[in-house]
Amino acid sequence: MSSMTYSSPFPEDFVFGVAAASAQIEGAAFADGKGESIWDRFARKPGAVAHGDTLDVACDHYARFDEDFALLASLGIKNYRLSIAWPRIYPQGDGALNEAGLDFYRRLLQSLHRHGIKPWVTLFHWDLPQALEDRGGWPVRGTVDAFARYADTVVKALSPLVTDWITLNEIRCFTWLGYGAGTKAPGRRDSEAVVNQTYHHALLCHGEAVRAVREHGGAGARVGLTDNCDVCVPVTETEADIAACKAWFLERNAHLLGAIHGKGYPQDWLDRVGDAAPQVQPGDFDLISLPTDFLGLNIYTAHYVRAGKDGAAYEQLELPPNYPRADSPWLSWVPQSIYWAPKLCQELYGHTEIYITENGCGYNADTVVNGEVLDLHRRDFLRAYLRELHRAVADGVPLKGYFLWSFIDNFEWEDGYERRFGIVHCDYATQQRTPKLSARYYADVIRTRRIL
Ligand code: FCB
Repeated sequence: MSSMTYSSPFPEDFVFGVAAASAQIEGAAFADGKGESIWDRFARKPGAVAHGDTLDVACDHYARFDEDFALLASLGIKNYRLSIAWPRIYPQGDGALNEAGLDFYRRLLQSLHRHGIKPWVTLFHWDLPQALEDRGGWPVRGTVDAFARYADTVVKALSPLVTDWITLNEIRCFTWLGYGAGTKAPGRRDSEAVVNQTYHHALLCHGEAVRAVREHGGAGARVGLTDNCDVCVPVTETEADIAACKAWFLERNAHLLGAIHGKGYPQDWLDRVGDAAPQVQPGDFDLISLPTDFLGLNIYTAHYVRAGKDGAAYEQLELPPNYPRADSPWLSWVPQSIYWAPKLCQELYGHTEIYITENGCGYNADTVVNGEVLDLHRRDFLRAYLRELHRAVADGVPLKGYFLWSFIDNFEWEDGYERRFGIVHCDYATQQRTPKLSARYYADVIRTRRIL
């Protein structure tokens, strides 16, 4: 350790990057043949999105990607996780291909390469073509067939420019929140059986994407899922509370990570859901459990769990009202989440290569004053989580990289533009970009590979 630094470095090959997603930053929602997505439609539903914000313009990244990548490069950022908008490629979900959509992503990926930035490409980050929703959406098995075709097309066309692929982003959010809770597009409140069917179809799409990368990705192509597993941390890091965490984690993640790992739905989950179990066809799990190269985890928060009383496997604690959180109501500060989620995935399912594909915090009113945004709250959030990440690496958890959400303030789904997650400020009236203090801080962490 040099005399000027106070922490041990991250490994030389540890990947630091930033993340964003098509629908949240691109804008150009109806340009060059793009079809309507379920989020374009949902945003127009009265009361669905804060302030009636739409995705029509967003950060205008569609027109400004080259400048945006120059800015990333100037911050020393060499890895960027992005997603492809399915409705740009197949405006009707299947049917006619829109070559202009593929050309856009070719130009974008070429620009990334020119700026020395490696792309990590997610095939689906929630922007389902509305035409598929009109035919039933995620509850319908035909959506899986349409996705398989889309995945084949994209991987074939873009594989010369991409080696690292992510199949789907956060299955829970576009299934349960979209079809059960109704807080995300398409805003439906369907039965438990319908929601369980959407999970199953999403798992099948994950498998189709793995297959597509193996068939068309070329030599060296790699693929994995990005999951937002339900996370818990032990109240105290003792054997009893950790055992309670393991029981909680297996139960809460049974239908997604558990199903992929177990090559079938765990029996205790099937017993719990009873008649609401999804319909499974022979061979489904051969596809769903195809081997992947890595697991992506989006980690923001966690529940606190301790040893159960009177023979219960665990006890989950309620957070007190004054427990610290970001402005996003769901985002309680639990830095240990980024330690325990990958550790439990290693211990319970045997994952050997894990990336944090998102982590960050959303606040309102990050304002530019004299050309600066002093987001010390975000800097503190990052530092606290990075310390736990570093501890996990030191403890032998197979963490290979970390992507900060997000590169730039953007359309935060039902919270619209009010909620800012960026390390770069976006002035939506002028499209001016201003790196915040947190961007400078993160740039220094990347440069030195140390928590500063
Ligand atoms: C995740 C989403 C991402 C972003 C962050 C804040 O759930 O994957 O698009 O909205 O939350």
